[in-house]
Formats: sequence, structure tokens, C-alpha cells
Amino acid sequence: MLHILLLLLLGTASAAVPDCTRHALNINTKRYIAALATGRHEWLESILTPNTTYSQNLEPAPIAKVTVSATPLTISYHRTTYDTVQCATHTEILVTNPVNPYMIATQLRFDPFAQKLASIDTIVTVPGDLLFNATHALHYYLALAQPEGHGGSSWGIPIAPEKQDSRAVLQSAADAYYDVFSNKSVVVPWGEPCTRLEGGYLDANGTCDMGIPDVTAKTENRRYVIDEDVGSVAVLSNFGILGPDVHEFRIAGGKIFGIRSMTVCKEKDDCGLSPPEGLREEVGW
Ligand SMILES: *[C@@H]1O[C@H](CO)[C@@H](O)[C@H](O)[C@H]1NC(C)=O
Ligand SMILES: *[C@@H]1O[C@H](CO)[C@@H](O)[C@H](O)[C@H]1NC(C)=O
Ligand SMILES: *[C@@H]1O[C@H](CO)[C@@H](O)[C@H](O)[C@H]1NC(C)=O
Ligand SMILES: *[C@@H]1O[C@H](CO)[C@@H](O)[C@H](O)[C@H]1NC(C)=O
Repeated sequence: MLHILLLLLLGTASAAVPDCTRHALNINTKRYIAALATGRHEWLESILTPNTTYSQNLEPAPIAKVTVSATPLTISYHRTTYDTVQCATHTEILVTNPVNPYMIATQLRFDPFAQKLASIDTIVTVPGDLLFNATHALHYYLALAQPEGHGGSSWGIPIAPEKQDSRAVLQSAADAYYDVFSNKSVVVPWGEPCTRLEGGYLDANGTCDMGIPDVTAKTENRRYVIDEDVGSVAVLSNFGILGPDVHEFRIAGGKIFGIRSMTVCKEKDDCGLSPPEGLREEVGW
């Protein structure tokens, strides 16, 4: 009798405690990658519910469109960060196919047990979006992940547990970057060296404390994926004057060492700017 009671108690206890592991997030993100790589949204079917929502560039879309293209995508690069507190992931994906290239960033949000998907939100950028070049992005994503030569700005390198920033510190650094676009008195905690990759364009290498345009742009509806292990904050938002946007920040010791972004140009090609010459030139392997 006691035995059964204990089992029952244990059963209820374990059912009530959220258990969102990196492993579960990782395997379910692989389903998402499989859907894109095969062009079959059915790979997600086992983790969908009738309530799962899907959006593309901030517009609601049917789940069948989650693959971006009905043709399988040849994925040259993908990388994921994990937020086990919110039970969410951020994945960046590059398709360098010269005919139909894409730079894609996706947030997946799960129930607290990482079993079923609550939402899928994707930013899909193509030629004509801000500083788009998937081949250049591939070059820099690989170069900036090298442990040597970029100091604290190396992406993806795990941070020792005792040196990890708290979630609040990570988020406030990312928020400061957005806030300075609407309030010039905000102090952004810049680190050095710092790199900023916008689309496929490396617009800062050394110091990022420059090139903030003199405009007022409020960033709305920020949705965060925070990964303390690698010092990353990824934010999906509506970036004021521009449009649907994803920024990811590489942060260490509370300072920003790297920024990379994908921004959809809603109104005009290239968001009305003329892309720099360098964006069309060969960038090397
Ligand atoms: C879907 O949402 C409804 C209304 O909030 C809720 O009652 C139901 O349990 C949800 N279903 C699943 C499978 O999450
Ligand atoms: C602008 O930022 C400064 C520094 O963080 C803050 O003190 C001030 O209240 C902000 N102004 C507005 C209008 O939010
Ligand atoms: C950034 O600048 C440094 C110093 O000039 C250089 O060694 C490095 O290759 C540059 N990084 C990239 C990705 O261009
Ligand atoms: C991207 O750069 C490559 C050279 O690396 C160039 O051939 C291509 O035209 C560029 N694409 C765009 C959309 O600018």
C-alpha cells in the first residue's frame, strides 16, 4: 500500500516539474532542420499540437509553409543556441545555392517538457534584404567561430560555468543595444574586439561603437532566446524603420563582443540603401 502511494506521489511530483533539457531541444531542432532539408513539414508532425503557431517574417502562416520552400533546401550551415529556462531554441541557417539563396533564423518554443512545439517563428531573408549575401555570411560565420584571433568575439565557444553571465545581465546588454536607437543616452556595454555582421556584411571589426545611424527606431515585441553556456542572446523583433529582424549578441563579462543580424526590407529593396561594393566581390572560402 505504502509502496503504491509512494509511486503515485513520485509520479505526480515528476510530472509537475518542468524538464527541458538541451538534449530534447537539440533532437527536436533536428526535426526542424530535417523538414527544411527535405522540403517535408511532416517531419515536425509528431511534435505539433492543434495549437502550435507558425509565423514567417512576423506574419502568421500555415504550418505547411514552415519548410520555406517546397524544394528541399541544401543547408550549408546551421547553428543552434539553447534556452532551457524558456524551453526555446534559436537556429541560424544558410542556404548558399546561387539561384535561391536564403539566410534564415528561427525560434522554436516548446512546452516546459520540450515535447511539443508551442510556436515556430522564422525570419527568412533573400537577396534585396538588408546587406544580404549568404556566401559572405558563411565565410564570416566560419571565420568568427575560430578560437584564435578574435578574443572574446569568437562565437560558439562555451564559457566556463564560473564566468557565465546571469540571464539578466545578458538580456540587459542586448536591450541596451536596441534602446540606443531611440535614446542616445543609453550606455551600451561594448567589449573589444567587437565584430558586427549585418546580413553578409562585416561592418565592424575591432570596435562596434560606431555606425549607429542617427535615427530613432523603436524595437518592438522583442522575443529572447538566452543561452548562458555560450553567452548568447538572440532576439526576434520588429526593428522599427526596417522590419522583421533577428539579432544575436555574443556577450562575455557583461560586454558585447559580437553582433550578427538578419533584417527583412519590407518597403524597398536593400531597405533603400545602396549595398557596399564589397558585398558582391569574392570573399574567399
Ligand atoms: C490548445 O488550447 C486550448 C485552449 O487554450 C486548450 O484547452 C488545449 O488543451 C490545448 N491543446 C493542446 C494539445 O495543447
Ligand atoms: C534614456 O536613457 C537614460 C540612461 O539610461 C535614462 O536615464 C533616461 O530615462 C532614458 N530616457 C527615456 C526617455 O527613456
Ligand atoms: C579583423 O581584423 C583583424 C585585425 O586587422 C584581422 O586579423 C582579422 O582577419 C579581421 N577579421 C575578419 C573576419 O575579417
Ligand atoms: C554574394 O557574393 C558572391 C561572391 O562571394 C557573389 O558572386 C554574389 O553575386 C553575391 N550575391 C549577392 C546577392 O550580392
